[in-house]
Amino acid sequence: MQTDSSFTFVLFGGTGDLSMRKILPALYEAHRAGMLAASGKIVAVARHEEDRASYLQWVNEHVKAHVAKSGVDENAWASFVDRIEYVKLDLGRAEDFVKLRDALQDQSGTRVFYLATGPSLFVPICHALASVGLNENARIVLEKPLGYDLRSSNAINDAVGEIFSEEQIYRIDHYLGKEPVQNLLALRFGNALFEPLWRREWVESIQITIAEELGVEARGDFYDNTGALRDMVQNHLLQLLSIVAMEPPHSMDSDSVRDEKLRVLRALKPIDPRDISKVAVRGQYHAGVIRGTSVPAYATESGVKTDSATETFVALKVEIENWRWAGVPFFLRTGKRLADRVAEIVVNFRAVPHSALGASALRAGANRLVIRLQPNETIRLYCLAKKPGEGMNLSSVHLDLAFDQFFKEGQMEAYQRLLLDVINGRLALFVRRDEQEAAWKWVEPILNEWAASGKPKPYAAGTWGPAAASAMLAQHGTCWLEEEN
Ligand code: BG6
Repeated sequence: MQTDSSFTFVLFGGTGDLSMRKILPALYEAHRAGMLAASGKIVAVARHEEDRASYLQWVNEHVKAHVAKSGVDENAWASFVDRIEYVKLDLGRAEDFVKLRDALQDQSGTRVFYLATGPSLFVPICHALASVGLNENARIVLEKPLGYDLRSSNAINDAVGEIFSEEQIYRIDHYLGKEPVQNLLALRFGNALFEPLWRREWVESIQITIAEELGVEARGDFYDNTGALRDMVQNHLLQLLSIVAMEPPHSMDSDSVRDEKLRVLRALKPIDPRDISKVAVRGQYHAGVIRGTSVPAYATESGVKTDSATETFVALKVEIENWRWAGVPFFLRTGKRLADRVAEIVVNFRAVPHSALGASALRAGANRLVIRLQPNETIRLYCLAKKPGEGMNLSSVHLDLAFDQFFKEGQMEAYQRLLLDVINGRLALFVRRDEQEAAWKWVEPILNEWAASGKPKPYAAGTWGPAAASAMLAQHGTCWLEEEN
């Protein structure tokens, strides 16, 4: 599928980490797969490189290593690099934006401005683009985190909204571009089997985990001012939650899906500040061992304050106040330097109401659906079966669906899908302003309470986080599913 028409993709932060690791590799993949219109151009914008030749040298040195697990196709790489132009630009110099406008003058088709920069630059860049008329008929892509809290996110959205209309604004949450997240929609709304069970009458609790083995890498400075609640919960985890819990949308068009997600976000039970210690656990990793390698404590990572109170782990109990989900706890969890890299959704169904087969059929956890998003995409349905032999002894067994056995074509990377969507004007997988606001509003009491008092609980790197996260589930007679990996 080629993009419908010609385009110019202007990349601010052209020498940044995100451009190097994600955006340029994703554009290369789309190019290699023949999905970009032949006349489409990429215009990288940065301060550091002098001219196109030195920028291309940077691209060759830094981006190639992040491209395609299958290796680089040299011919495709050469023609990809041919698409790239470069404009050296200092954000503080108005005349540089005139230079950018002139450089874009001859380009036709859709114009995309991708702001792969810190959020503090979003508004100044938008103003500067508008001052030379470049906002007209263009699309703008904003990376997360958009703001620091509800107020700052509103301030950015208000300012950007004066220059670009909502239909021109693409707020990225890369989890929405992941193949397995798309598949969750297919599972829920393409099969009549699950939908009748997908509600409080049959579901006891739901867990959503995004666990990482990585630490803060080279982003200590950014992360120490952000923390896991802003970095992962406000966006990725709440987006996953809203897809798991939403009502069937009327269609897959952009507003039908986003309207339903918004309803879930607005139905999240507000957290009373007095209850925060009961429903929210924060942790920070100390030194430990992951897969046999010693890793340092968070507080000793470069860019991190030695007395930092930033959380690298969050576990939450969330409730949704509507007819479908009233009373069903949703347990969310994310953290860095945990025991494994895994992202999964666990739907725990209720035990049978009466067991004619003996007490073992009432065992909780026997009826369970595990949707794994990462590192491999699988769906596993646990049920009870009779053990061979005499008597009626039940044991948990599972049905497995491994997607890579069904589909030989490789998964499309999240960024590749999302960039193609921007170029083609498809908004469904981007976060609308009202969704973002609802998510900030819900996390705000926790942000405030944590900023005002207390410290994260320590956990050793390579474990599953502080014991308090398990204790929170134990109070509900359940536990995190951890033995699967
Ligand atoms: C990003 C966060 O949005 O998502 C990172 O800023 C995190 O801290 C990353 O590591 C996780 O994404 P993925 O796709 O590797 O699960």
